[in-house]
Amino acid sequence: MKNDGAVRIVEVGPRDGLQNESVTIPTEVKVAFVEALAKCGAAEIEVGAFVSPRRIPQLADSDEVFLRIRREPGILYSALVPNSVGLERALEVGVDKVSIFTAASETFNLKNINVTIAGSMKRFQPVVDDARAAGLPVRGYVSTAFHCPYEGRVAPDAVVTVVEQLLELGVDEISLGDTIGKASPEDVKHCLDAVLKVAPVAKIALHFHDTYGMAVANSIAAALGYDIATFDAAAGGLGGCPYAPGATGNVATEDLVYAFKSMGIPTGVNLDGIVSAVSRIVDYLGRPIASHLGRVFLTRGAVGSR
Ligand code: HMG
Ligand code: MG
Repeated sequence: MKNDGAVRIVEVGPRDGLQNESVTIPTEVKVAFVEALAKCGAAEIEVGAFVSPRRIPQLADSDEVFLRIRREPGILYSALVPNSVGLERALEVGVDKVSIFTAASETFNLKNINVTIAGSMKRFQPVVDDARAAGLPVRGYVSTAFHCPYEGRVAPDAVVTVVEQLLELGVDEISLGDTIGKASPEDVKHCLDAVLKVAPVAKIALHFHDTYGMAVANSIAAALGYDIATFDAAAGGLGGCPYAPGATGNVATEDLVYAFKSMGIPTGVNLDGIVSAVSRIVDYLGRPIASHLGRVFLTRGAVGSR
């Protein structure tokens, strides 16, 4: 492994984690969740999304959440932004970083953001330009980078095309999403073999959902085999997209951190803190924590070190 021996965790629990829940979490509970996560050492927290409140009512209060959170120094508080209206909202509440989002398959993109891939790039150019003019770093998500819920397996070449277009737009980072959580380490290999021919490894992040239980294995394969150093994860394994039927949550932050820690790869993230932060949210969702480490925590009262 050459990626300085450490990995960076982007905590997406407050955004991806809550966007597909049938229960609406009260704003003050979201604020407390973000503040608790911030005490656990994640490099970045994706706090919300400035998307259409009709499409994603669960995150309609993202403006309010941003205004209310007490921020910890050194953490980037980021948000999804689909268009210029979203960027305006994001700038008004002082986000530290914005994420535009598109996909490697047309059908998913049309259902998710109501535009073709080419159309999304046109829509994003002014967003990226204005965000950069405001001094903000920009992430670009590529959803369905491995499998699409509507079109099946996605060819690495299709991902490469979108990655090249995002680099051309001027994004600082690209997160490749396994939106339906079906990728295997072999799929990850094929995709990264192709993508890393056109993109510097330092700009690539990975975003694994865990439907098939492969997300930790995929992350380890990418960190050890390709020096990828940025991984998205959601506390408690929360997450899902309303336009990705059948998909379950993101890789649980605590399960991923435990795996990295057991291999001597530091993340800076406190395991017990993450589990205790998410346990307050799952009380509202009315179900137990889905992660492996969450279950250990519930039985033993702590996860602790190895
Ligand atoms: P549109 O459907 O093309 O229509 O929107 P529009 O642009 O005409 O707008 C429709 C309505 O939304 C209008 O209001 C607009 O004013 C309003 P109405 O007239 O109906 O009252 N609107 C907005 N309101 C507030 N903020 C805005 C905004 N923009 C429009 N920024 C749009 C296009 C992209 C906005 C819409 O389709 C949308 O919001 N989609 C939601 C997509 C989404 O959030 N999906 C989940 C996140 S992506 C994901 O989870 C994948 C990821 O995790 C990676 C992975 O796992 O692969 C990132
Ligand atoms: Mg996702």
